[in-house]
Amino acid sequence: MKKYTIAKGLFDILPYGAKEPWAHSHLWSYVENALRSKAELYGFEEIRTPIFEHAGVFSVGIGSTSDIVSKEMYTFEDKKKRLLALRPEGTSALLRAFFEKSLFQERKVHKLFYFAPMFRYEKPQAGRYRQHHQFGVEVLGSSSAEQDVEIIDLLLSFYQDLGLKGLSLHLNSVGDIPSREAYKKALKSYLEPYLPKLSKESTIRFSENILRILDTKAEEDQEILKNAPSILDYLSPDAKAHFMGVQSHLEALGISYEINPRIVRGLDYYQKTVFEITAPGIGSQNAIGAGGRYDGFPKLFSGQDLPGTGFGTGIERVIQTMLAQNCLFPPKKAPFVFFAPLHSSCIKPLFLLTKALRDLKIPAEIDLTGKKIQEQLKRANQLEATYTLLLGEDEKKQGTLQCKHMKTRTQEVITLQDACKVIEEKWKNRS
Ligand code: HAM
Repeated sequence: MKKYTIAKGLFDILPYGAKEPWAHSHLWSYVENALRSKAELYGFEEIRTPIFEHAGVFSVGIGSTSDIVSKEMYTFEDKKKRLLALRPEGTSALLRAFFEKSLFQERKVHKLFYFAPMFRYEKPQAGRYRQHHQFGVEVLGSSSAEQDVEIIDLLLSFYQDLGLKGLSLHLNSVGDIPSREAYKKALKSYLEPYLPKLSKESTIRFSENILRILDTKAEEDQEILKNAPSILDYLSPDAKAHFMGVQSHLEALGISYEINPRIVRGLDYYQKTVFEITAPGIGSQNAIGAGGRYDGFPKLFSGQDLPGTGFGTGIERVIQTMLAQNCLFPPKKAPFVFFAPLHSSCIKPLFLLTKALRDLKIPAEIDLTGKKIQEQLKRANQLEATYTLLLGEDEKKQGTLQCKHMKTRTQEVITLQDACKVIEEKWKNRS
């Protein structure tokens, strides 16, 4: 028999038994619920799009020279030879749905959020996977600097609520089209003499998409770039005013930031504000969230010039950082009572009691395997039940139950008739 294993760069999210401590599902539900509540508090509504799209949806804005499109996208042909791609990021897919379904007709400003798995064929390492999970928000229809600050504030306040420490907001502006054209020229004249010394990849980027060179990992390029002109010296008056606005609103909210003119982001669609948020704990892949403004991008889908801004945060990186920083997670949900029928004739009364307690919203579990008492108690312990209620043939005749507190090991006898009331009382008075 062939033994199947998970494909490279992927992981399972499991209720127990996960090799990676961060891949336990109760941690995920806690973080996802916190994100959902925060998004709703800030007035965002959920959107869900399919896991794959026509490949063109992604190449149009992310850019054909970007790593994501040129190297990392999982593309495939369907049976009718249509070229499809697994979603590598959320913004493009959201815009496709937004314009296809004419959501722009519904209101002026749209505040949307999503939870979605993303697929990128990257070299797997800690914090970098071939399927990762993002929570993202996108605001369409608002071009103001305050709008950028509102989403940055949402993200930071979410991280802070989870207890993350050492957060740094790295901020830049990649300008608008006039700023970028002017900057590209300046960067070109600066880099031209260094062309023979640049890495192979940067030499290609020099002619294809020069701004991508700023994203280089090659040490020889980094050295050359140290004295390169800064995009911030080439901002148009409009882009400059926007960037000043972002800074002043961040300051008004008491949010500290560091300007880093080298942040260009790996996706071409950005204009004006771009940002990354890092936190110590998980090594080099320490960008837990990132995003920015992409005003010219929606036009590529519809011809309509709608401004947009948003971010994505990787849920695995958030959980990993929380664990590395010893942030608190709520305890895993456990049954309050565990019913252990010690004979087949005892199942029925306990089955009814379990149902009655569940109807009262008291977490109750029953063993239906007919296993021996030791096995049942072992299971109650594994599930971390607060009480185990045992019913054997003798107790059944007497109309009683043994009620055992699993931690203190104290035991008391309660009548079957009063069991529901007694447990409800204990539930209400639990600490
Ligand atoms: P991104 O920077 O490519 O942006 O991804 C956003 C976040 O997803 C990263 O900061 C990181 O936490 C997480 N992430 C990315 N790739 C991986 C990976 N291979 N493994 C684990 N986590 C990863 C975007 O995708 C943009 N769509 C964000 C955005 C939305 N900008 C505007 N709106």
